[in-house]
Amino acid sequence: MTSKTSMPNKFYITTPLYYVNASPHIGHSYTTIAADCLARRMRRLIGEDRVLLLTGTDEHGQKIQRAALAQGLSPKEFADLTSIQFKELWKTLNIAYNDFIRTTEERHTKTVQRVLEILFEKKQIYSAKYEGWYCAPCETFWMQTQLQDLVCPDCLRPLERINETNWFFKLSEHHDWLMEYIRGHEDFIRPVSRHEEVLRFLELNKLEDLCISRPFERLNWGIPLPFSPDHVTYVWFDALINYISAVGSFGPQGRYESKWWPADLHLIGKDILRQHAVYWPIMLHALDLALPKVIFAHGWWLINKDKMSKSRGNVVNPLDMVDKFGVDTYRYFLLRDVPFGLDGNFSEEAIIKRFNSDLANDLGNLLYRTLTMIEKYFDASLPQGVSITVKDGYINAIEEKLKKLAAAVGGITDCNFSLVLEEIWELINMANKYIEDTKPWNLYKENKHDELKEFILVLVEVLKETADQIYPFMPQTSLSIIEQLGKDKVKKGKPLFPRII
Ligand code: ME8
Ligand code: MG
Repeated sequence: MTSKTSMPNKFYITTPLYYVNASPHIGHSYTTIAADCLARRMRRLIGEDRVLLLTGTDEHGQKIQRAALAQGLSPKEFADLTSIQFKELWKTLNIAYNDFIRTTEERHTKTVQRVLEILFEKKQIYSAKYEGWYCAPCETFWMQTQLQDLVCPDCLRPLERINETNWFFKLSEHHDWLMEYIRGHEDFIRPVSRHEEVLRFLELNKLEDLCISRPFERLNWGIPLPFSPDHVTYVWFDALINYISAVGSFGPQGRYESKWWPADLHLIGKDILRQHAVYWPIMLHALDLALPKVIFAHGWWLINKDKMSKSRGNVVNPLDMVDKFGVDTYRYFLLRDVPFGLDGNFSEEAIIKRFNSDLANDLGNLLYRTLTMIEKYFDASLPQGVSITVKDGYINAIEEKLKKLAAAVGGITDCNFSLVLEEIWELINMANKYIEDTKPWNLYKENKHDELKEFILVLVEVLKETADQIYPFMPQTSLSIIEQLGKDKVKKGKPLFPRII
């Protein structure tokens, strides 16, 4: 992405639109926090108004209709309630999204209908009898060849036999085109393991046309097909279109206008790779629209080796974690503990470990010690009128590191969150070691005033760079460090991360 090519002049990043059949869990917050982190970084790099972070909720389909029914609510009433939970969680987690789209909004339903009309006119959609297996909780059709028993290969629940007239989108026609495209664009699907997975899938399977409708009598909670009022749109076909319906519209000639499209990055979990890396590019291609630049599919948070998911009933509520550990600790943990792209095991013990070592011990201590010394040795005034003259090994190494961090502008835009944090923490720990080895209390006793000043200057420089670097990950902590460092006089607050036993 950006570190390999030049800086983009706009950055449009999306999260999946989460289903509203149940409350948000840690998995949802993971993708959204990662997206927020990237968006914050890009805003600083290319400017606030050149970055668009889109998130939202996916509200149609059978499983939502059923969940609503179970609560005695209409699907829309039910969707309103859960959609708000997502918005509130994003507020709590400090997610600075620019737009939140719900698939029940008119800007979206209109665009979906336009897309259907255009594809219908282009003869990309036809009607036929359909017989096959369907998993309602996953909203997925399965081919006989994909099945061992009559249960969903993903969630292991019973499948339903479906036999009805439906509408189909000609996926199969674009099979070879897609394969060539992916082969020619190694950065299109990331990480590379996912690129290979999709290619392998296309090499081993001939794509079947995609059923994109449901008969109205079986499912009425969906967007009606403009050319067949007895059918509503399949929820996945509907939902993917959000990425264009949120940021533009089709003119009378069927031309799509948007200053944001194509997306620079679709951030998703690996569970929905097929839809994003196969269906979606083909839909766009059939519409003559540009493809997103990158689709990045991250790994799963597991609980005891099992995917955390609503359907498996093993979810952890992010709000509980925030209550226990604070927003920034939670954000830090998710992006630090597991390399983005791999699966990771979620546990409170792991959070506590990270908290005590990285946050309390390393970062919190560095700030607290530095401010305490400035209070004690300099009456809380930041030393002025000195420059760093004596460059010993420590200072050289620290300055080297500072330069390296400042120059790595691409950095997290490559989604290497944990690696970037590791680098920042190397700097923090170099400074901690510098304090321990320099023994500033001796400099003070021996009245080595200028040396002490220079020593403090280096630490302040490290803290400023650290605050700058951690901003996308931990915005509140970053601002708090800057505030405590003050302008001329430091303003020491409470320790940032009081140790958890
Ligand atoms: O699939 N670990 O919505 P969804 C990490 N509406 N991430 C996880 C996760 C886990 N255990 N569980 C969920 C849908 N996620 C569709 C998307 S897009 C046009 C439509 C995250 O509510 C991850 O980003 O099931 C995953 O892809 C997404 O939530 C699925 O959310
Ligand atoms: Mg899901």
